[in-house]
Amino acid sequence: MTLPLPHLYSGKVRDIYAVGDDPLLMVTSDRLSAFDVVMAEPILHKGRVLTAISAFWFEQLGDVVGSHLVSTDVNDLDPTVVAAEEDLAGRIMLCRKAEMLTIECIVRGYLSGSAWKEYQASGTMHGQALPAGLQESDQLPEPVFTPSTKSDLHDENISFEKACDLVGADVAAKARDISLELYRRGAALARERGIIIADTKFELGLVDGELVLCDEVMTPDSSRFWPMDEWKPGATPPSFDKQPVRDYLDGLDWDKNPPPPPLPPEVVTTTSSRYIEAYERITGRSFSAWPGVS
Ligand SMILES: Nc1ncnc2c1ncn2[C@@H]1O[C@H](COP(=O)(O)OP(=O)(O)OP(=O)(O)O)[C@@H](O)[C@H]1O
Ligand SMILES: [Mg+2]
Repeated sequence: MTLPLPHLYSGKVRDIYAVGDDPLLMVTSDRLSAFDVVMAEPILHKGRVLTAISAFWFEQLGDVVGSHLVSTDVNDLDPTVVAAEEDLAGRIMLCRKAEMLTIECIVRGYLSGSAWKEYQASGTMHGQALPAGLQESDQLPEPVFTPSTKSDLHDENISFEKACDLVGADVAAKARDISLELYRRGAALARERGIIIADTKFELGLVDGELVLCDEVMTPDSSRFWPMDEWKPGATPPSFDKQPVRDYLDGLDWDKNPPPPPLPPEVVTTTSSRYIEAYERITGRSFSAWPGVS
């Protein structure tokens, strides 16, 4: 995608442009990465789902912390920008440009992924002791703030003390308290609707000296979403959203290095439906009402 604006950055999923002096334009694509490789096929509406879920959380959780979001309305863009790309509606966020913290604010409510690996090896999580005898995917006694460094190559799990060294003790403590409260509120709401948010990554930044919530919030891409009825301690629950892709790829003889194998159309369609279902379950809203959908 090329828009008639200064292009600042493209990540695996988002393309970021500058609009005037401050607002950033984040355009969320339909790209899907699995095993850290971006698939060749776009997942229809995935970018809209991620935008819609994040917008929902910014709205629901605005009393916990302010956000970078200015608008998700394409009518707030210059008409020349909208004319340059027909598929923008519903997948854009105009945001305040923040000075991003150099840590990722991860909160874990369940023992999975790299935390499970560490626990198996040493009985700890980010260096802190946990009760003995926990199983994979067990719910933790309480949610824990487990920051990591934010790096292009490989994020590294760090202790809270290390986070204090990186961003300052005051900011680190605020980021921890905000992240824990966001997770508690979000996970409780999702749980009522049949989805476990096992863990999630928040990105906080400073705007005019204040901490604000940036990037995407409690989406399937920034979190582990598990279907509640398929969660069983002692095993890895299926991913609510990406499991059709993972299952398909696991059945192939692929070494998980690019280029990715082509995905069959039914895997793409099923994955798209799962993303949409996650949005509808969590928000209780109909996805067909979101801009650009129909
Ligand atoms: N308000 C903001 N101000 C400045 N930077 C932001 C803001 N909100 C999000 N970002 C940054 O924009 C980028 C979003 O792009 P994207 O999610 O595609 O890539 P990424 O997270 O860097 O990498 P990955 O491909 O692993 O997702 C992130 O680097 C994020 O930290
Ligand atoms: Mg990202």
